[in-house]
Order: sequence, then C-alpha cells, then structure tokens
Amino acid sequence: MKRIAVLTSGGDAPGMNAAIRAVVRSALAQGWETFGVRCGYAGLIGGHFEGLDARAVGGIVQRGGTILGSARCPEFQTEDGRHEALRQLHQQAIDALVVIGGNGSQTGAQALFQMGFPVVGIASTIDNDLVGSDITIGVDTALNIALEAIDRLKITASSHHRAFLVEVMGRNCGYLALMAGIAGGAEVVVIPEIETTPEQVAEELRAAYERGKAHAIAVVAEGTRYDAEALVAYFREHHARIGFDLRATTLGHVQRGGAPTAYDRVLATRLGAGAIAALARGEAGVLVGMEQGRVVPTPFAAIVGRQKPIDPELFTLARILNQ
Ligand code: F6P
Repeated sequence: MKRIAVLTSGGDAPGMNAAIRAVVRSALAQGWETFGVRCGYAGLIGGHFEGLDARAVGGIVQRGGTILGSARCPEFQTEDGRHEALRQLHQQAIDALVVIGGNGSQTGAQALFQMGFPVVGIASTIDNDLVGSDITIGVDTALNIALEAIDRLKITASSHHRAFLVEVMGRNCGYLALMAGIAGGAEVVVIPEIETTPEQVAEELRAAYERGKAHAIAVVAEGTRYDAEALVAYFREHHARIGFDLRATTLGHVQRGGAPTAYDRVLATRLGAGAIAALARGEAGVLVGMEQGRVVPTPFAAIVGRQKPIDPELFTLARILNQ
C-alpha cells in the first residue's frame, strides 16, 4: 500500500475541497492511504499530517475555501525549510505528495521533486496564469462572482449616468478582468499585458456616454500599472478637464470566497483523480491540468517560472463588443 500526502497552498480557490475529495477517494480506489497536510508547506515543515478517509472528505464538494487550510510560506523558500519538509515526509513514511495550488505552489513542488521526492501538482488558482492548464480550479467561480458585482454596478451606474470602475484580482494576469469585461459588457478593460493610459480610459468612458449609453464600466485587473487607486486619483486630479468622476469598487478577496460552481467542482474532481492516475502510472514531477478538454500531465520544468499569455483576439473582441 502507498501512503500519499495532499496539501493546498497559496491563495485558496473555490474547488480545492472537491480536488482534495477526489484525491482521497481515487487513492482509496487504488488501495492507498491519504494524509492531509495542514496549511500548505508550513504544515509540511511543522509535521502537521492527519489521516483522511472517505468520510473525512464527505460534505465538502460544495464548500469554498479548503478544509486543510492554506498559507504562503516564506520558510519553504529557504533550503533549510525544504530540507525539514523532506525530513517530515520521510518520517511519516509518505511515498508521494500532491500539491494543489498555483504558480508559487508549483514552484515549491518542483523544488521538492528536484530533491528526489515524487510530487504531482494540481492546477488551482483563480488567476488562470498557469501554463499547462487552459483553465484552473477556481477561475469559473471567481469570474461569476465578479460578474454578479458588475451586473449590479451597471444597474446603479445606469440610474445615475455614472462611470464605475471594478478592480478584479489576478495578480499579474489579466485573464479574469478580460473575461469579466467581455461577459459583463464593460466599456473598457484594462489588463497588465496591454498598456492603457488613464487618458485612454477617460476617452473610452466619455465616448460611451456620447454613444448614448446610460452607464460606463471599466474593468481593471489588479496588476495593471494604473490600478483602481491610480485611476481614481488621476480622474480626481484632472476632474475639471475630464468632466466626470470615477467611482471604484475593488472586489479583492470576495472573489475567492464563493461556493464552487458546477464547472469548478467537476474540473477539480477530474484533476484530483488525474493526479492519482499519474502517480499510479509511476509519473511524478508533473502538473496535472486541463488542456483542450482532456486531463493532461505537463512536466514542472515546462511550466514553472512561466506565465500563460493572454489571447490578444479576446482583447480585440472586448473592444468590438463595447459599442
Ligand atoms: O493568486 C491568487 C490571488 O488571489 C491573486 O489574485 C492575488 O494577487 C493574491 O492571491 C492575493 O494574495 P493574498 O491572499 O495573500 O493577499
């Protein structure tokens, strides 16, 4: 019998629980035992392992967050921290580790793998910036939360003929903002991958009014050079010339807190099962993701340190649709 450990790391993402459940139950189907590690790499260093059976992961598929807890762990970035983590894995007689998380977490997973320990990653982050997965766990839920906010803001914006700005998460990646802009019918989308000046934002919003729109919504990704704070400050400073205010709503962590959508539950379940299938095939050092509708493993070496690019056609589409 194999003994495997599973942890969730970095920013939590709706669907992580569904992935944990799939890992535990798929492992059981192989006749393996699973141990949950508390609070990501911090729990690995601290030796916080607990046995997870089928019942322990019951009733969690519909819950956001992660029952294991998550953390950002600077100690794991040090050589001493990683050696201690490895020591704990050996002490607990663990044969393989599953890491559910985003870019930083998979960088840590690769580091452990390079130290000779079998690790498989599962692509999980609301940012959708991971190479090796067209879509990652949590993106669909976060997007729907952003959309609900945009839809609501549009109503009040229309009542008052006001311009609104919504800042969405995504770290350095504009995917969430771009998709929220397309699905929410925003007049302007500002993302880190394509430079947009405050003056351009003002012009686009003014042009929307001139075309007879009752509302003007700008969706801005948090990682842009001119984020919500910078844009609001610019509009305030140049109010006399621009002629209207910009009211800003920053969604922040609200986006990470929702119950996972059906899409995220199924995606997480398939990737969790895929991670166990990879280990059963004797594979390690891979990220399990979803590409072209199929669960595929990609070597860590091909994904770590890279960011998935934005499809520029989608940016063009957002501009075409904002008429
Ligand atoms: O990676 C997920 C994410 O929510 C990013 O979109 C955001 O930049 C970051 O995490 C926030 O990190 P924290 O929760 O540590 O403040």
